[in-house]
Amino acid sequence: MFDWSHLNQVERSAVMTLLWRAAESRRADRLFTDKAAEEAAALFPPWPSSPLVRVFADIVSLRTSELDRRVSDAVAGGLQQIVIIGAGLDTRFTRLDLPSSAIVTELDSEAVNDLALKVLPKLPAVRREVALIPGGVTQALDKTSYNRNRPTLWIVEGVLEYLPGQLWKRLAAVITEHSAPRSRALITVLGDALPRLLAEDPTFPFPDLPSLTHIVSAVPSEWRSEVFTSARFREVPANAFSILSLSRSEPRAD
Ligand SMILES: C[S@@+](CC[C@H](N)C(=O)[O-])C[C@H]1O[C@@H](n2cnc3c(N)ncnc32)[C@H](O)[C@@H]1O
Repeated sequence: MFDWSHLNQVERSAVMTLLWRAAESRRADRLFTDKAAEEAAALFPPWPSSPLVRVFADIVSLRTSELDRRVSDAVAGGLQQIVIIGAGLDTRFTRLDLPSSAIVTELDSEAVNDLALKVLPKLPAVRREVALIPGGVTQALDKTSYNRNRPTLWIVEGVLEYLPGQLWKRLAAVITEHSAPRSRALITVLGDALPRLLAEDPTFPFPDLPSLTHIVSAVPSEWRSEVFTSARFREVPANAFSILSLSRSEPRAD
């Protein structure tokens, strides 16, 4: 069994997310199959259950399947330079059928990256770098073959809620600075239903929950935004989370 007692609370969320995806994959009514998550999850002791843990597990399942569809469409549409911010123990690119031409860069803390290298099957196209988000993103990408003149697909799943204060604004600025025309960004934002749930059980540590309205109003003008807001699902109330889908427009011809 892997000892993850040395991880801090934010880093532990990466293990919890992995365990929840594995649990979804084992359900008869599953939204997706994820054998890599199942195999990796078997290396960890089970996470104690509670009503709120079960709700979060369902949020992660729904969020994962909604994002999988959008990521597959974007990759099929030609976006093959992919950067995952706060990749955690993400298994998306073993779960999805990724063309061999796609180049994936995963960024996270050193502790989570070390764990990922130990427990997840390595994909040849996936590269991991250590980055403190948002300040270390540029430096980390500079170590790779990342090309800021190519359109990029950015994935920011389950991360904003862990960034204190207004750091999400700096992350938006870093992503914008590195995004060529036709880039896309898929960003998850916890919804208004969450503070009510957390009030019942404050064991989930979110230093600041930025509101979707605030985030959308601060999106740099280079982007066109679309928002998907989750409906009721299993025990999860409506508006538990949203996916903010950003598309960077072509440069003007004039
Ligand atoms: C809930 S997990 C989500 C992981 C992954 N995106 C997924 O959906 O499975 C949040 C991840 O964000 C990372 N993270 C949060 N804040 C960070 C920061 N400031 N710098 C680096 N990583 C951070 C954590 O280490 C953790 O792996």
